[in-house]
Formats: sequence, C-alpha cells, structure tokens
Amino acid sequence: MYQERVLSGMRPTGRLHLGHYHGVLKNWVELQAEFPCLFFVADWHALTTDYDEPGKIEDAAWEMIVDWLAAGVDPSQATLFIQSRVPEHAELFLLLSMMAPLGWLERVPTYKDQQEKLSHKDLSTFGFLGYPLLQAADILIYRADRVPVGEDQVPHIEFTREVARRFNHLYGREPGFEDKAREAVRKLGAKRARLYEELRTRFQQEGDHEALEQGHALLNDTQNLSMGDRERLFGFLEGSSKMILVEPDSLLTEASRMPGLDGQKMSKSYGNTISLREDAESITKKIRTMQTDPQRVRRTDPGDPEKCPVWQLHAIYSDDSIKDWVQKGCRSAGIGCIECKQPVIDAVLAEQEPMRERAQIYLDDPSLVRNIVADGCERARKLAQETMRDVREAMGLDYS
Ligand code: TRP
Ligand code: SF4
Repeated sequence: MYQERVLSGMRPTGRLHLGHYHGVLKNWVELQAEFPCLFFVADWHALTTDYDEPGKIEDAAWEMIVDWLAAGVDPSQATLFIQSRVPEHAELFLLLSMMAPLGWLERVPTYKDQQEKLSHKDLSTFGFLGYPLLQAADILIYRADRVPVGEDQVPHIEFTREVARRFNHLYGREPGFEDKAREAVRKLGAKRARLYEELRTRFQQEGDHEALEQGHALLNDTQNLSMGDRERLFGFLEGSSKMILVEPDSLLTEASRMPGLDGQKMSKSYGNTISLREDAESITKKIRTMQTDPQRVRRTDPGDPEKCPVWQLHAIYSDDSIKDWVQKGCRSAGIGCIECKQPVIDAVLAEQEPMRERAQIYLDDPSLVRNIVADGCERARKLAQETMRDVREAMGLDYS
C-alpha cells in the first residue's frame, strides 16, 4: 500500500532552543513513527538571505542535525539530508522557473514582509525572489503529500500547490490521454474500475471532494500500477492531464506556545532562549534569575501567577498538583519565587537529560553524523531522480 510521504526542512540556524523542540521537533518525532519522513537542512535557502556570510552555514548545519538527533529524530525511521547535496532540487527549481509566473512570486506575502523586516540587507536579488520556488522544488521533487510547517509558511505551500497544478496542466497533456486513461482504468480490474468511475463521476459532476479523496485512497491502495498509469489515473479523476507532480497539503504545526525567559515568545532575536543541550548550571541560573510578577517585590507580598512568566513555564512543564501548589502558594505568599521555580528547573533538566546523552554519542564520534547524512542524501537522491526522470520527459528533455 502507498503511504503518504512527509517532508520538511529547516534553515541551518545552528543550535536550536526549546521553542524549536516544542514547536517542531516533537512533532517530527511523532510523525516519523507514522509516515515515511524526509527532513532536510535547507542550506541553499540560508544563502538567499545570508549570501554575504557563507562561512557559518556548514557548522550551523551540523550543529542543527545533532540537535535533531538529540531531540529524538531517528535516522532508522526518517531520512535526514542536506539540500545542496541533492542537486536535483536545483534542476527542478530551474525547470519550474521556466513556467512560474513572476507575478505569483512577487505576490507571495513573505517576499515584501521579509524585505522590510531585513531592511539592513539588500534582498533585491533573484535568489530571494525565488525562495518560494526553491521551496516548491524541495517539496515536489519528493511528491510529498504532507508538509509540516508553521503558519508563516502556509503561503509557500499554497504557492507550491499552484505551481504543481500549472505544471500538470502544461506538461501532463499527452496525445490520446483519454484513451490511455480508460485503458488504465480497465487494468484496475472490474470491481475497482467500477468504483473508480463512480468516484470520478461524483467528483466531476457534483464537485464531491470526499469522492476525490476516496479516489486517491483507492489508487494509493492499488499495487502493480506503472508510474505512467498512476499519473494518468490520478489526473483523470479530476481532469484531462496526467498528474506528474503531487499537490501537497500543509500539516499545520500548532504555533509553539513556548514562552521565553521574559514571557514573550521564545526566539533568538529576543535573547530569551534556553538551548537544547545547554549545560545544567546555565539553565538553572537563567531560570533562577527570570523575572516574576513585578508586583511581588518582597517575599511577603502575595503575587499573581497570571502576571508571571514563570507560571507560563509551569503551564507547560508541571502537573496539576504542582500547578495548584503554585496558584495557592503564590497568591497567599506561602511560597517564595525561588522555591516556585525549582520544579520548572527540574523539569527542564529532566527533559534535556536524554537529549544530552544522545548528543554525546554524536559529539564523541562525528563520523556517525556524517554517515547518517550520507545515507540520507543517497536515499533522498534516488527518490528525487525518479521524479526528475518524469519531469524531464514531460518537458521534452528525455534524450534516451
Ligand atoms: N522556508 C522554510 C522555513 O523557513 C524552510 C524550508 C525550505 C522548507 N524548504 C522547505 C520547509 C520545504 C518545508 C518544506 O521554515
Ligand atoms: Fe511567579 Fe511563582 Fe513567584 Fe508567583 S511565586 S510570582 S508564580 S515565580
């Protein structure tokens, strides 16, 4: 049976923090058990904004991968690789650039937003404008069905869907498509063929999206289809061209509610982070010196957890009995702030303990990480090459 494929990437920012862990990595760890997953370092994407500081990318990439592994991303379940080591991404990016309308790229909201936000940089470059198209190539080259991303990335996934649709429309046409598609339907066998026809009619005549999904499931469930027939049957369900590239869905990762040390969202640019694998002493110190309810000046002043960033950490890390102890103790001045912070310190340290242990293995022997990535690149590359064969053929570049 066909299993939906998950793909996601992260720009190499170096050491990750608890916000990344609770917002993204925990999710990856859950997904890898359920789906075939590909996770990659988007090093070319880093160059779109940091083209003037290339020296830092490589170290940042390795550190980030160690953090993924530390967090529990498992190379025996998921494929981990580096974008630039699968050069097929660049080939697809180039070919897509031939037909991607300039207006679509200019209208992606992150384009102007980021240019304004990073106004100290000159981002009027071709590469930066092409950012979402490169991302589309990353996704489409693996025919990924689901892309776990944060809300800010949703326009990029939508853009990717539009590019895939346009590609299929332009290049999925073949002479005698309908006859070939009908022939492929017959190959499904009588029972499946009847169901396929029924679902197709329901979608095309009544716009029934449920029928479309059932049709996809039916095809995913069918073995022994050639790639060409598969593309025809997927395409024939909804139109009159082959479906060569798959339209992905975004898998919205719930916005990380991980508060930083000051109660704002945890972010490197606010300087309020706790890193993954940060040493125990530094974590303890950071939490001990965290701001508390500003009204609570003296130990004898009652406080209000709602006005205290420490409470937000309790909300993530503490069970009901501890939360209850905080609520009562704070409001009655029954506990002091240092006392109140201790269970949070303990919980953060406990969460990091297995991460530090896992990371140590890789720090002691960096060749392990190199090998994991080499394996991952090879596996990813095979998949990418399969898609590229189809893409080249569809675009008239099949010189066999
Ligand atoms: N643009 C993404 C980000 O900044 C990173 C990224 C690049 C990505 N290519 C991707 C994410 C493909 C998902 C799929 O977070
Ligand atoms: Fe914050 Fe806890 Fe101090 Fe109350 S007791 S102000 S919740 S740190």
